[in-house]
Amino acid sequence: MKENDHTTPDVTSCSGTASWLYNDIVKDHFFNPRNILIDDASHESDGVGVVGSPACGDMMVVWITVDESTKTIIDCKWRTFGCASAIASTSMMSLMVTENGGMTLHEAKHLTPEAILERLGGLPDRKYHCSVLGHHALREAVLDFEKNLSQETV
Ligand code: FES
Repeated sequence: MKENDHTTPDVTSCSGTASWLYNDIVKDHFFNPRNILIDDASHESDGVGVVGSPACGDMMVVWITVDESTKTIIDCKWRTFGCASAIASTSMMSLMVTENGGMTLHEAKHLTPEAILERLGGLPDRKYHCSVLGHHALREAVLDFEKNLSQETV
């Protein structure tokens, strides 16, 4: 079988009217997603974010665990009903927020889809909306953590 020469599309639509090429980083994160939560529906966390995409109807859930003394994210799990681009970009997002000791909540709230796309080496333009799904769920999870914290201190 001929190796992909990186000019032949990886994915084509059923009608053959659209085709996309995914780079090796995207494919690695799709086939080996980091921090995905497969079986543990009772996963405990400090904040949960759930979002849906109006563009395609897909869903994303992100769970974060926070070190309260440093306000850093020490664990980030996720699960999705989404496409390869959503899986790859959320996998990368979960890696970025937990690497090097974890992002602060402030940094996580300001993480942009563009920063995730840059680390992924890009996605086809048409798949941009997939990359914001995990990013929006992360923001919701951080807001959920902050809401829970403020209710504890009341
Ligand atoms: Fe729905 Fe990508 S097409 S998340």
